[in-house]
Amino acid sequence: MAEHLSQSELDYPFKLLEYFNGFRVSKVIFSACELGVFDLLLKAQEPISAQHVAQELSCSEDGMERLMDALVGIEILEVETKDGTALYSSSDVANLYLAKGSGKSLHDMIIYQSQTIYPLEGKNQNEKTFGLPSEDIFKALYRSEEEMLKFMGLMNSSWVLDGHDIVTAFNLSGFQKIVDLGGCTGALAREMAKAWPSSSVTVLDLPQVVETAQKHFPQEDDAVEFQSGDFFSDEIPPADLYVLARIIHDWPEEKCVTLLKKIHDSCRPGGGVLLVEALLFENRRGPVTAQIFSLNMLVQTEGRERPPSEYTRILEKTGFHNVQVCRTGKCYDTILATR
Ligand SMILES: C[S@@+](CC[C@H](N)C(=O)[O-])C[C@H]1O[C@@H](n2cnc3c(N)ncnc32)[C@H](O)[C@@H]1O
Repeated sequence: MAEHLSQSELDYPFKLLEYFNGFRVSKVIFSACELGVFDLLLKAQEPISAQHVAQELSCSEDGMERLMDALVGIEILEVETKDGTALYSSSDVANLYLAKGSGKSLHDMIIYQSQTIYPLEGKNQNEKTFGLPSEDIFKALYRSEEEMLKFMGLMNSSWVLDGHDIVTAFNLSGFQKIVDLGGCTGALAREMAKAWPSSSVTVLDLPQVVETAQKHFPQEDDAVEFQSGDFFSDEIPPADLYVLARIIHDWPEEKCVTLLKKIHDSCRPGGGVLLVEALLFENRRGPVTAQIFSLNMLVQTEGRERPPSEYTRILEKTGFHNVQVCRTGKCYDTILATR
């Protein structure tokens, strides 16, 4: 088996991760087909905005924009930006195989796959599946100890792959006290402590998460300390650097602004904030992983993935400056800003 894998796949399992996302990519195509996106684009005969499509099809504009961006990422739609508005058009493949009217349309195959086969393979939307409103995302995710452990295991595993690149993307040696807000099992924090041994690293997370992390993800001679707290309602401990890994993408902008302002107030002079997220391209053409994550955020959280310009705008709005972006070329990227 191993001899069939190229060296680069061994270094980083790009293909494997792409296959893991396969079920989401299928659903992107199925949903667009069921909604009639390809029929509308074919009828329009000219590039149209996601807002226009959403209005015609009575859908959410935000959801339609993310769906169409993901379709661009997988090269089924094309996009161009005119006067700041993204205008989408179909590819020849979409017109031929995905629009209902074409003689070669695969529409019926898609409907059967989407409505009969896909549900048998399981899907997850908090509200439909668990009867919980989307703002209770962590209540839904942590609805039992077993579910909490599964989620924490998922969070933990990302940093086996990307952790080292993330923590070494910038020289963080000048930051003495580092607090990883919403640091979950401490996996990224431990990478941070390993890379920057003269810094002290603390993970702050909700009390039940800290308890579970210490019970199920313990480490001998742990270089990382844990602290229980709610970053929205409790005081944020003073530090030189705050890490927010996959936190901003969970929440709507107002909540991100509230949190970042709070962090700015607690941050020591000369300190900063390190965001870790999957960054979208500014031109909306990818990366597909980030576009698919953004759709996932739509069905599971109140948040979204963003391009660097959006993070920069939010950081500057909350008092941070000197925003530096580092794309790792892997799933997750990082942004450093100073107070
Ligand atoms: C998407 S996970 C990211 C975990 C970790 N930073 C990582 O990237 O692996 C979001 C984390 O934020 C924590 N969290 C959510 N709401 C919180 C709050 N109000 N205060 C503190 N932590 C919170 C969750 O428990 C979870 O560990």
